[in-house]
Amino acid sequence: MLRVLVFLLAASCFTFATGKVLKVPLYVRQKLNRSELFFASNSTQGGETLKLPLQTRTNLEYYGTISMGTPRQNFSVIFDTGSSNTWLPSINCPKSNFACQNHRKYNSSRSRSYKPDGRNFTMRYGSGRVVGYLSKDTMHLAGADLTDLTFGESLFLQHFAFSSVRFDGLVGLGLGSLAWPNTTPFLELLCANRLIEKCIFSVYFGRKGGEILFGGFDRSKFEGKLHYVPISQWDSWNLEVTKTTVGTKQIGGISNAILDTGTSLVLMPQDTYNNLLKVLSAKVENGYSILSCERKSLPNINILIGGKVFPLTSSDYLMELTLDRKKLCVLAIAPINRGFWVLGDIFLGRYYTVYDATEKRIGLAKAVRRGG
Ligand SMILES: *[C@@H]1O[C@H](CO)[C@@H](O)[C@H](O)[C@H]1NC(C)=O
Ligand SMILES: *[C@@H]1O[C@H](CO)[C@@H](O)[C@H](O)[C@H]1NC(C)=O
Ligand SMILES: *[C@@H]1O[C@H](CO)[C@@H](O)[C@H](O)[C@H]1NC(C)=O
Ligand SMILES: *[C@@H]1O[C@H](CO)[C@@H](O)[C@H](O)[C@H]1NC(C)=O
Ligand SMILES: *[C@@H]1O[C@H](CO)[C@@H](O)[C@H](O)[C@H]1NC(C)=O
Repeated sequence: MLRVLVFLLAASCFTFATGKVLKVPLYVRQKLNRSELFFASNSTQGGETLKLPLQTRTNLEYYGTISMGTPRQNFSVIFDTGSSNTWLPSINCPKSNFACQNHRKYNSSRSRSYKPDGRNFTMRYGSGRVVGYLSKDTMHLAGADLTDLTFGESLFLQHFAFSSVRFDGLVGLGLGSLAWPNTTPFLELLCANRLIEKCIFSVYFGRKGGEILFGGFDRSKFEGKLHYVPISQWDSWNLEVTKTTVGTKQIGGISNAILDTGTSLVLMPQDTYNNLLKVLSAKVENGYSILSCERKSLPNINILIGGKVFPLTSSDYLMELTLDRKKLCVLAIAPINRGFWVLGDIFLGRYYTVYDATEKRIGLAKAVRRGG
């Protein structure tokens, strides 16, 4: 159920809140064009962990590079903790599908390690749909070769969600129960093939780029100790938020939260969101929740997880944008009409996260932030 609505708010981040979608892609494109790509660090490291540099465009899309097949065909992908399947655009997608044509496409005839599967698939994300058929091939990432990964070759990518994004495809980092039937998803295959020693991975989203580390975590990327909490539902990367406060006011109670690298913002249940607007004295105009641009006057949002408070500060949740040549500060948090949170890139920028598939737990610590 969860994977149905998580993911990729970069192109449609305000649709949950407003339906004023038209202005947002402009903002995203404008913003994205201003800053170009950065590499956080350079590729492979030997031993039992795999390190992958991630690139970002203004922290709205964090993506890395993988290749598929023999010889290799390169792709930019999102690593999505909110889903478990992997797909790439297919060379066989019709000319009429611009979102597919606009990206790099996998050609199975060019790969010696390709194996057909024969089944079709449909993936539904919060922002759009992807349809195609399944194939198997060797994925190469960070110096490792993952043989016989089942992935989707996409023939149809929904236009508004995928046409203007920088990444070509997606690698789902979720657990097995969310995967296509009778397939071993990426993380499980990586662990089963012993390409990493420990079945964990860690995510660092810095300001100018990030890093995903499979098989371990990087102490230089966070402060203090990792705070571990059990995953609250067996089948996905989620945890329990005990309560949420702003100042002395409680704005939300017990709720599940998915950690989702594929979502740009933070989404919270509607009633918690309404309380938040009240305590922040936000004005809702044209569907945007407008706040004061004086960051210092805005309080922290304190999220209690496993007995420890994880604050979001105004520099995390305030987003500047230009509308009709006027500078506006809006809340980078949107409501969701479900009873759980989605902790996306805004939260993951502040907190380093470790996903432990063996112990079924998630570790969190304050991320080190460098580079302004
Ligand atoms: C980014 O903006 C520059 C001008 O500022 C323009 O020449 C360029 O085509 C833009 N790039 C994209 C990808 O829109
Ligand atoms: C990658 O890092 C190694 C050592 O950490 C360095 O010697 C090498 O030049 C770097 N490569 C690139 C392309 O930056
Ligand atoms: C694919 O990526 C690898 C390493 O990331 C690079 O060496 C190679 O030149 C790329 N191939 C193409 C066709 O871009
Ligand atoms: C796919 O690869 C095959 C083998 O190299 C080639 O003949 C074919 O033209 C490619 N398809 C497209 C659409 O480029
Ligand atoms: C898969 O989808 C194609 C259309 O894209 C259709 O022609 C084919 O019959 C489908 N195959 C199965 C097994 O459903």
